[in-house]
Amino acid sequence: MSFQRKILVTGGAGFIGSHVVRLFVNKYPQYLIFNLDKLTYAGNLENLKDFEKSFNYRFIKGDIVDESFVLKLFEENKFDGVIHLAAESHVDRSIVSPTDFIFTNIVGTVNVLNAAGKIWDNLNLNNKGQVSMESEEQNPISSFRFYHISTDEVYGSLDETGYFTESTPYDPRSPYSASKAAADHLVRAYAHTYNLPVVVTNCSNNYGPYQFPEKLIPLAINNIKNNLPVPVYGKGENTRDWLWVEDHAAAIDLVFHKGRTGATYNIGGFNEWKNLDVIHMLCKIMDEKLGRIKGKSEELITFVKDRPGHDMRYAIDSSLISKELGWKPSLTFEEGLSKTVDWYLANEEWLQHITSGAYQQYYQQQYHQR
Ligand code: NAD
Ligand code: DAU
Repeated sequence: MSFQRKILVTGGAGFIGSHVVRLFVNKYPQYLIFNLDKLTYAGNLENLKDFEKSFNYRFIKGDIVDESFVLKLFEENKFDGVIHLAAESHVDRSIVSPTDFIFTNIVGTVNVLNAAGKIWDNLNLNNKGQVSMESEEQNPISSFRFYHISTDEVYGSLDETGYFTESTPYDPRSPYSASKAAADHLVRAYAHTYNLPVVVTNCSNNYGPYQFPEKLIPLAINNIKNNLPVPVYGKGENTRDWLWVEDHAAAIDLVFHKGRTGATYNIGGFNEWKNLDVIHMLCKIMDEKLGRIKGKSEELITFVKDRPGHDMRYAIDSSLISKELGWKPSLTFEEGLSKTVDWYLANEEWLQHITSGAYQQYYQQQYHQR
């Protein structure tokens, strides 16, 4: 069977990546989708079960830090599009073990860029002199794209007012955000220096099904469900801009296909909430869904020592992607949180598998230190 395009998604066994791969596999039967993932603690084949046998999907276990492996993979498969999500993604872990973040997020990104650059060079050479009136299907050079998925955390922290725009200067403040900022700079440097056709998006906090329960929302849901303390860092006044993960995946689809080459788009829900308010909402939803007495789950809220260097507020101005590509979030936060809680309650086994074993050790270390 021949496919119109071969697209590589890195980090597709993680939270956002699994939603992106699912969307592409189901929506584009004419594409062959490769999912390259190391399966770190955050990568989970159970996130992919519903489409793992699809005819247009291939899983490859591998490490983007392994330069020769990545080069060989690109040489063998000649991908004509890359959506790069693989990363170490958790800020708290970056504070404890920054080196992993430097390897995967920076060195790994350079390896993927170099391998994509080789394919791009070959496409350029092979297409020299060709008339460029052909459709994308016939002329892969017009459709080749390196899409780098980044975060709003590269912009630093906001006071009470204002938004991050695409021209906000970078000011990363955690090892995680510094490593993502370095990767973003490298991606843009490859575009400038080698003409690699890149696009970058910087997104706010995602939530929804399949998120690893080290992040605030799934951790709180899991703890409320099990009557465990719900840890709130500092006074719970830090503010995040929350986005339903499928809305992020839909934005990635749009940008991959229609975004301007060389552009950066910010993605966010115009949906800011203080952490403590998020937890209050979750407690209320969980009381209702678990049939608990009103206010019962709130008793679990426990204020703990703050995250070192904790950024106070993130808020994304996503008007560029809305204006240019017509993207907008599909759900209110209340709807999204309710759907998220339903998913975690219905997927007991998924949660059970993740929260046994190494997770327990992480959780104990993380919260007994505080
Ligand atoms: P995640 O931690 O859930 O998933 C990361 C995936 O990358 C995992 O499947 C993991 O196994 C894989 N991976 C890690 N190191 C690898 C390596 N060396 N080689 C190959 N695979 C490797 O992360 P996520 O929350 O889904 O985030 C995905 C991307 O989106 C990241 O680049 C992150 O910076 C970015 N992002 C995340 C958010 C968010 O709220 N979660 C917001 C904005 C941007
Ligand atoms: O803004 C985008 C970023 O959002 C992504 O780039 C990161 O990959 C992603 O992890 C996320 O980073 P945050 O640090 O904002 O997410 P986290 O869920 O870890 O924390 C959200 C907020 O909640 C933050 O202010 C810290 C706080 N928090 C977190 C945990 C885990 C708590 O108060 N208690 C907790 O137990």
